[in-house]
Amino acid sequence: MKTLVVYYSRSGNTKVIADEVAEALGADVEELKDTKNRQGAVGYMKSGRDAMKKTIAKLEPTTHNPADYDIVILGGAIWASTICSPTRTYAAEHKGSFKRVAFFCTSGSSDPAWATKGFDALEEVTGMKPVATLGVGQKEVMIDHEQPVADFVASLTQR
Ligand SMILES: Cc1cc2nc3c(=O)[nH]c(=O)nc-3n(C[C@H](O)[C@H](O)[C@H](O)COP(=O)(O)O)c2cc1C
Repeated sequence: MKTLVVYYSRSGNTKVIADEVAEALGADVEELKDTKNRQGAVGYMKSGRDAMKKTIAKLEPTTHNPADYDIVILGGAIWASTICSPTRTYAAEHKGSFKRVAFFCTSGSSDPAWATKGFDALEEVTGMKPVATLGVGQKEVMIDHEQPVADFVASLTQR
């Protein structure tokens, strides 16, 4: 199964999960880079506003063609109760190129309901149901996410 992991990570949490998922699956990786500076307090506020307004970001060019993959795994953080703008943008720009999708989100809260908001947004944007989802709270990114990641990977490899 040819797999591409595509993610955006402003502060590193989503990157931790993306790298582990990609390594376990032997997947290619596309890290999204935004042309807007989202660092610091001002960047945080801009990001929250962009997410709320569902603003499309201006991403740097990507290197992999999602149409070449059996499955594309889309990942991003929850911003203002929805998927972060760069991941939303990629999903919207490549909608129609995906054969199958899976989603993962990290959130400040450990309550899985937060990640679900990101999955719902990506499902709406892509018009596709994910074959698997994974939500990880930022506390669990640091200390304890081995089993959820293993379960997510297993649910993809057992298909
Ligand atoms: C602008 C902004 C808005 C956020 N809004 C939420 C939110 O509504 N709910 C939540 O649980 N976490 C929220 N967070 C926390 C992030 O989802 C969490 O820290 C995530 O793991 C960050 O991932 P990253 O390090 O890959 O950027 C927000 C973070 C940012 C930057």
